[in-house]
Amino acid sequence: MAPRRAIEREFGVPFPGEIQPPEHWTQTALKRLPAEEPADWNAIFGRAAPLVLDLGCGNGRYLIGSALWRPDRNHLGIDVLPVVIRYATRRANQRALANIRFGVCDADSFLTRFVAPGSVQEIHLYHPQPYHDEAEADQRLVTPRFLARVHRALAPEGELYLQTDHPGYGQYMLETAREFFEFQQRADKWPDAPKGRTRREIIALRRGLEIFRGVGRPRPGLDEAALEELCARLPPPRFALDRRVAELDRWE
Ligand SMILES: C[S@@+](CC[C@H](N)C(=O)[O-])C[C@H]1O[C@@H](n2cnc3c(N)ncnc32)[C@H](O)[C@@H]1O
Repeated sequence: MAPRRAIEREFGVPFPGEIQPPEHWTQTALKRLPAEEPADWNAIFGRAAPLVLDLGCGNGRYLIGSALWRPDRNHLGIDVLPVVIRYATRRANQRALANIRFGVCDADSFLTRFVAPGSVQEIHLYHPQPYHDEAEADQRLVTPRFLARVHRALAPEGELYLQTDHPGYGQYMLETAREFFEFQQRADKWPDAPKGRTRREIIALRRGLEIFRGVGRPRPGLDEAALEELCARLPPPRFALDRRVAELDRWE
């Protein structure tokens, strides 16, 4: 009889993949950030393959699922919080994945320091913190300057995926992203994960919150001068607090 494989669940939703026998486990943590800036990601992965980047990846649910169903791509998850990266790497190691790495870094400085222009195929950003306290508003990740960095990092046919359950942040993201990307809002759930691609999406869907999501490709012809002009002209993320989202964040 074949051995029973352990299936993990989060809020009742199976976590992608299965835990493999320990002798197959891999090492997916970047113990330290690369010495080279920008980094040579093909050398770090040991092969040349399109790079998928998840910024603020949390426990890695989306990226681990993607690494399993897209073995032909290299996957890189970044989060500023070491504890969530420990959860992500443990699960990726146990799934014996060789096409994924996780590192602890601030997303903005990661793009600036470690990513060569035009080198990334997909950048995913799911549920960046809205920072409800106005005094912390400067920490919001999605700004015109951040989107300019994403534009530089993506290959010409690359894709940016943005998602939040905060109405004010969602509206800001969609409006601002359209200036840099040919960006389409998407009303439907992701077909690969109708119960939610990420831990936060699962929780938000269970609470009945609206999800703002979309995908865009870099607008062609935006050179450095045009990107700088957008950064100077477009407003920073300022929006009204949302009581339901703030409550959910306190509960988390
Ligand atoms: C609300 S959680 C969402 C996590 C995951 N993307 C999801 O959808 O479940 C926001 C994540 O972004 C991370 N984060 C916040 N600021 C960040 C930054 N400047 N750079 C990288 N990660 C950041 C947090 O540590 C946290 O894991």
